[in-house]
Amino acid sequence: MDAVIHGPAAVQGTAVVPADKSICHRLVLLSALSEGETTLGRWPQAEDCERTRGLVEALGAGTTLTGTQLRIRGVGPSGLRAPSGPLNCGASGTTMRLAAGILAGQSFASVLTAAPSLARRPMRRIVEPLAQMGARLTGEARGGDVYPPLRIEGRRPLRAIRYTLPVASAQVKSAILLAGLFADGPTTVVEPQPTRDHTERALERFGVRVTREGPAVTLTPSPLRAPGDLTVPADLSGAAFFVVAAAARPGSALTIDLVGLNPTRDGCLRVLQAMGADLETQAQGPPGEPFGTLVITGRQLTGVTVAAEQVPTLIDELPVLLVAATQAAGRSRFEGLGELRVKETDRIASMLEGLRRLGAAVSLEGPDTVVVEGGRPLAGTAVDAAGDHRTAMSLAVAGLFAQGTTRIRGAECVAKSFPDFFERLAGIAGSSTVKTVDKAGGLC
Ligand code: S3P
Repeated sequence: MDAVIHGPAAVQGTAVVPADKSICHRLVLLSALSEGETTLGRWPQAEDCERTRGLVEALGAGTTLTGTQLRIRGVGPSGLRAPSGPLNCGASGTTMRLAAGILAGQSFASVLTAAPSLARRPMRRIVEPLAQMGARLTGEARGGDVYPPLRIEGRRPLRAIRYTLPVASAQVKSAILLAGLFADGPTTVVEPQPTRDHTERALERFGVRVTREGPAVTLTPSPLRAPGDLTVPADLSGAAFFVVAAAARPGSALTIDLVGLNPTRDGCLRVLQAMGADLETQAQGPPGEPFGTLVITGRQLTGVTVAAEQVPTLIDELPVLLVAATQAAGRSRFEGLGELRVKETDRIASMLEGLRRLGAAVSLEGPDTVVVEGGRPLAGTAVDAAGDHRTAMSLAVAGLFAQGTTRIRGAECVAKSFPDFFERLAGIAGSSTVKTVDKAGGLC
């Protein structure tokens, strides 16, 4: 499927965004490990979340999807059973890394397989700490790293460790904390920079003690208590595409309800505010995950510098922030983007390629700093999603800013996190502005 965007176009109204993918992965995994039933009110049906659901089912937990409500029947921390075959994580890195933590603490062996894009992503970052805890993980060893498929020989109990993360990664932190549920004492992870804390908050909802002391987070193992009904806020990473579409274009006015506003995750909003964006947030909560309403009014933005320390709080929003920078007056610098190279694709390469084709002045300084000279008019043309959902959605937003027609090839990859992205975009930009077409060119 290709997406076709006729720009330039403002956005108006209320945007609808699926429930947070990151949080859903965690809630499904913890629900499976608890005794009792948990209901998630707004299951997103994104491909990645479906992988995690399939995985817990293969390990013996029951799930029922009724409309958008997902019910999970947990088996308790000792109730997972050996799967009858390999566990396919598809393209979902979060499924693989978080599940590896749980499987490291089981008394059976398992194999995690991956689609081609995930098979290219590095796993030594989880293999090392989980091996220190006593599990045995093997994969394809190449160039000093380890790649999927991963074979995991679990051990129970695991050894409790104190581990300092070499890269700021919520997935790695979460893998270790989840393994810590099966350890012989408290497990501590020390972070170089704060990363999203959804795992810690979710563990607390399931009655597990998690304490924080500066950069260190410690989990004390205990059984999990199913919390009953949970509502997951809308995904700020999905909302960010609409936020940028509105914030960077005078004449736009947009509201997004019940969106996640976790401070370890909302760096993109702070960067947009530093660029002069007119963004109002009305936050609610805790307990649990903070969320609230976002109200955005478009205006002319100015360039910004994003330092490497800020990157973990906006890692998934960087592609669309690069798009925002093309619309800002002056130069923007984005430093320390190295982790973008090991996402679903090399997102520095895919975004530089797409934005340059559209006429933006973007360049690479050293290995991982991107400089954008804002204010150059964009002109619609054909660009490639590179098999990456966030590249596809970011280039669609660039298409709204460009003069003429932008065609995003391979746009079906948005289903990984946001299956109805283009329908929702059409809902705020107009159905004559945003269309999808099948390979033969007919309207979808
Ligand atoms: C995620 C953490 C981030 C992010 C990914 C989801 C998570 O990855 O890029 O999309 O749910 O924990 P890293 O923690 O590896 O940076």
